[in-house]
Amino acid sequence: MLHIANLTLDSPFLLAPLAGYTDLPFRQLCREFGAGMVVSEMISCHGLVYGQAKTRAMLASNTAERPVAFQLFGADPAIMGEAAALLSTFHPDCIDINMGCPVKKVTKRGAGAALMQEPQLARAVLTSVINNSTVPVTVKTRIGVDSRNISAIPFARMVEDAGAAAITVHGRTWAQGFTGTADWDVIAQVKQAVSLPVIGNGDIHSYAQGLEMMHQTGCDGIMIGRAALGNPWVFSPGGKPSDLASLMDGVFRHLELIEESVTTDHMPGDIKNHLGRYFKALPESARYRKMIYDSKDLPGLRQALESIWAGTTGNSNWEQIHPQ
Ligand SMILES: Cc1cc2nc3c(=O)[nH]c(=O)nc-3n(C[C@H](O)[C@H](O)[C@H](O)COP(=O)(O)O)c2cc1C
Repeated sequence: MLHIANLTLDSPFLLAPLAGYTDLPFRQLCREFGAGMVVSEMISCHGLVYGQAKTRAMLASNTAERPVAFQLFGADPAIMGEAAALLSTFHPDCIDINMGCPVKKVTKRGAGAALMQEPQLARAVLTSVINNSTVPVTVKTRIGVDSRNISAIPFARMVEDAGAAAITVHGRTWAQGFTGTADWDVIAQVKQAVSLPVIGNGDIHSYAQGLEMMHQTGCDGIMIGRAALGNPWVFSPGGKPSDLASLMDGVFRHLELIEESVTTDHMPGDIKNHLGRYFKALPESARYRKMIYDSKDLPGLRQALESIWAGTTGNSNWEQIHPQ
């Protein structure tokens, strides 16, 4: 059982924040499929404070997805504090601070991974967010700036000392971006060094691997990002189903949740991107993806998925790819 401040999570497997993907429908889906907590896409503190419509729209939530953490990014302690106060009025279960994103757009303003090389500023940001929040505050970071500057241990001590409720460590450096492999040893060292809950992250592709990371590193929970795309079953021991009917159950449930939350006629490309991923391992995935991408609106998308389902019923290729 994973405890973060006053929260008791029913699974130590968490959905990682993924910009462009961890919107309300996907978060709710992952909770339904077993994730113990879900994290929003990163939200700009400036966008929130200046009331940008696109940023405000990212705050959509409901009780079914709880517990949920909303993630803020920014490097200005005062604005981050203001954003945290505003976010608190929406009553998320946690506020997470992004101190690991390597994307230039974020780091050039000193936010995300850039905060790792400015621990004093990182502390000021964290303190300001804690002082202005009514909910527990957590931090998500990486193991260091580059392989010669592995700073996760002193950084985690700082995060604990400043009063964070948990820390997530992605086992890569800022310099690595998403290349190479996640270093689970450093995650284990962080766990040894602090007493706040440590959540390990990076390169977990299955439920069994998640358990393996917990076993190997001693971490209290794990976070799964990319492996959850098109595969919310990664949060349950059984994994991705080997029969098409169960696979389509997941796809149609995801679509249903999308239909409940998208209120305009405009269908964002993210939705197609999400749904196309379910069919990744299939021989006809390119054709399925084209059918999905060619759909113009949500009813069209539903129709495309229904014809994929109808057209593939009894398709023996599925059994070849996923033997029982
Ligand atoms: C498309 C994409 C978007 C991401 N967006 C965020 C984000 O908004 N905030 C964040 O802290 N990390 C973000 N990450 C990093 C992931 O949360 C995670 O740390 C990383 O992908 C490693 O975990 P994984 O191997 O399970 O995917 C993103 C990663 C990807 C691939």
